[in-house]
Amino acid sequence: ISIHVLNGPNLNLLGRREPGIYGTATLSDIERDLRAQADTLRVALTVRQTNHEGELVAFVQEAGLAGAGVLINAAAYTHTSVALRDAISGSGALAVEIHLSNVHARESFRHASLIAPVCAGVICGFGPMSYRLGLDALAALMAARIP
Ligand code: DQA
Repeated sequence: ISIHVLNGPNLNLLGRREPGIYGTATLSDIERDLRAQADTLRVALTVRQTNHEGELVAFVQEAGLAGAGVLINAAAYTHTSVALRDAISGSGALAVEIHLSNVHARESFRHASLIAPVCAGVICGFGPMSYRLGLDALAALMAARIP
């Protein structure tokens, strides 16, 4: 099983970015923990981050066309990007949407997700644990799909 963990804009700033909302763990900290978890799950992991919408679209296409699962924190593009949604549905990627913060407890513009309808499920509000829970869920879904 192969899973790509795709991170959208500003997540490279984790650790110093609004720590009251996003916590103090860096993306490298999160990646290190995910790699240990992936080893236990026997999942091949690719972790990427980009601040560019088109690049995030390309990452999704690449994963989906390769038959890899997509664990995606699309950050602000969650709420704005039709292109990202079309990349998930168009590439046939099995995707799980995650967020560190509880987007439903925040500004109303964060309540809507354009990608949620084309994802298997959504996990938000658990900080770095959202990544951990998402990886567990996606690995289980993929294991159930592959004979
Ligand atoms: C986020 C929530 C988004 O609304 C925001 O734009 C982000 C991070 C989260 O992980 O909580 O950049 O995706």
